[in-house]
Amino acid sequence: MDDAGVYKLTEDTALIQTLDFFTPIVDDPFLFGQIAAANSLSDIYAMGGIPLTALNIVCFPAKSEDLALLGEILKGGAEKIKEAGAILLGGHSVEDAEPKYGLSVTGIVHPNKIITNATARLGDVLILTKPLGTGILTTALKGGVLNEKDLSFAIKSMTALNRFAAEEMQVVGVSAATDITGFGFLGHAHELALASGVALRINAHKMPLLSNTLEMAEMGLLPGGLHGNRRYLGEKIDISPEVKVALADVLFDPQTSGGLLISLPGEKESLLMDKLKEKGLNPYLVGKVVEGPPGTIYVSA
Ligand code: CO
Ligand code: CO
Ligand code: CO
Repeated sequence: MDDAGVYKLTEDTALIQTLDFFTPIVDDPFLFGQIAAANSLSDIYAMGGIPLTALNIVCFPAKSEDLALLGEILKGGAEKIKEAGAILLGGHSVEDAEPKYGLSVTGIVHPNKIITNATARLGDVLILTKPLGTGILTTALKGGVLNEKDLSFAIKSMTALNRFAAEEMQVVGVSAATDITGFGFLGHAHELALASGVALRINAHKMPLLSNTLEMAEMGLLPGGLHGNRRYLGEKIDISPEVKVALADVLFDPQTSGGLLISLPGEKESLLMDKLKEKGLNPYLVGKVVEGPPGTIYVSA
């Protein structure tokens, strides 16, 4: 249940491999390319790795759509690959009615420094490096009710690499991590808790949200994946009745290019927070690791 596949090459190098691609979630093709690439690179970062090479995966209706659009998507992706310090080696494209784009990324990590989602420890605190709400806000965008300012905040968050968070995790030394993507905050938190054999306690009102996410959730602008996440997780999530339904919805919201959820000993919390802030990130303390049935997430008000 981890973010990427890992293969030990030598005593000091392990290979990390991952693949992700999806349909456009914003209208601007260049920004979509950036978002998709940042999202694909994220699984390498979630394991504490360094991305080395990337391959484009492209589906595009070349017969009916302007190829310049595809050029913009690829340009956006290439920019993020470069920012990550990786190299684009090539790719593969197929004709398809609906455009899709993403990357297969290969990275490396020292075999003793692999950060998995299976080693969170009792007493750890939990840090989240990006606010939630991209699924709800892109649903609002499709519904034509999202203002430019809120859209630009969401895009800034989705195009941001998890690179600095990964680097600082390695400097400080953490127990476990994962990135928050399609299964939503609670889905990925549940995977981390289950794999680690622990439970997590989260304070719903301390969760960082992108601006206007709660208002859009209250209007019912919820992506289909959100309901799927809620159904799948079921009773593994123990939500206090005092938590408003719309706020709980946000915790199930599928994220695109979300942040890292990091579990680390309490005495290292301020060190990591300071280092992340120095790099321009805005990390949040969102909960802690507690005893309980493995995989359970207690959500309090
Ligand atoms: Co992941
Ligand atoms: Co993934
Ligand atoms: Co080919």
